Amino acid sequence: MRPKVLISPDTKNIPEDVSDALKEYADVEYVRRPYDDKLEGVVAILVGTEPINAGFLDKAPDLKLVARFGVGYDSVDVEECTQRGIMVTHTPEVLSSGGADHTWALILGYYKHIPYANSHVRTRWAKREGAVPFGWDTEGKTLGILGLGRIGLEVLMRSRGFPMKVIYHDLIRKKKLEEKYGVEYVIFDKLLEKSDILTIHVDLNPSSRGIIGSEELEKMKTSSLIVNTSRGPVINESALVDALRNGKIAGAALDVFEKEPTPLDNTLLSMPNVLATPHIASASWETRKKMAIRSTGNVLSYLKGERPPHIVREQSTVEFPLRQ
Ligand code: DGY
Repeated sequence: MRPKVLISPDTKNIPEDVSDALKEYADVEYVRRPYDDKLEGVVAILVGTEPINAGFLDKAPDLKLVARFGVGYDSVDVEECTQRGIMVTHTPEVLSSGGADHTWALILGYYKHIPYANSHVRTRWAKREGAVPFGWDTEGKTLGILGLGRIGLEVLMRSRGFPMKVIYHDLIRKKKLEEKYGVEYVIFDKLLEKSDILTIHVDLNPSSRGIIGSEELEKMKTSSLIVNTSRGPVINESALVDALRNGKIAGAALDVFEKEPTPLDNTLLSMPNVLATPHIASASWETRKKMAIRSTGNVLSYLKGERPPHIVREQSTVEFPLRQ
């Protein structure tokens, strides 16, 4: 029997010209949720952010590879997969540039009131009704980067075009980057205290979950903007609502939320000092194509009997039997 590969709808339609490469080795199906009760014969699945947990894996007795269409894999229970001899891959590097672009779009969109101004020019400017409130300049501001990994670094590189000071905090100090880009390492509390714009670029894991809560928000400048394009749960949302309401910080620009899609009645969405986008930092033609190539490339390697190149860090030393 030919093996089956499933492509989940959450992968935002991997283009067929990319997935066609898999057809030489497997039957490829684009699936709709909910998945069939039993996923017999499915050896690999390309997934978006839907949870891949024990319950899901129970339905897929022949599964050997979970290929995340994305860099973050907090939605996949890697330990459970490892115990069952299932490889997990992701798509590092290819979305760092697009992700950093989106971070800057949020920063500038917020600073310059772009959504408000866009609606004003279409509905009220000609009638001389109201005005767009003044925004802010980046000049003289301090940008704080929490997490100077691949995406944080791209954000830093773009910041060099702005007249700003840049500081960062990371579990690992990056001395070479400090020298190369003139970015200053600070302890976490200083990052909170000194940043005019705090942008978050950490993975979601047990130690980063809720890393920004009421205590941390309390330490930030009352004029500061917090930007999150990483994962929603790194910020405690109810603490953020309180901080925004009580003027502990000035604003938030968010691409990610604790629960996604975020409910329409999420208080954050009704706050004028919040700029929100629906988890689209990687949603550009170029980046999505690169992600499609990288994620299907991982599946292709497995189908050809090779070890996929982008196995997640936790499985880097785990030996998996290769396909014969
Ligand atoms: C990622 O790749 O982790 C993006 O957030 C899209 O899920």
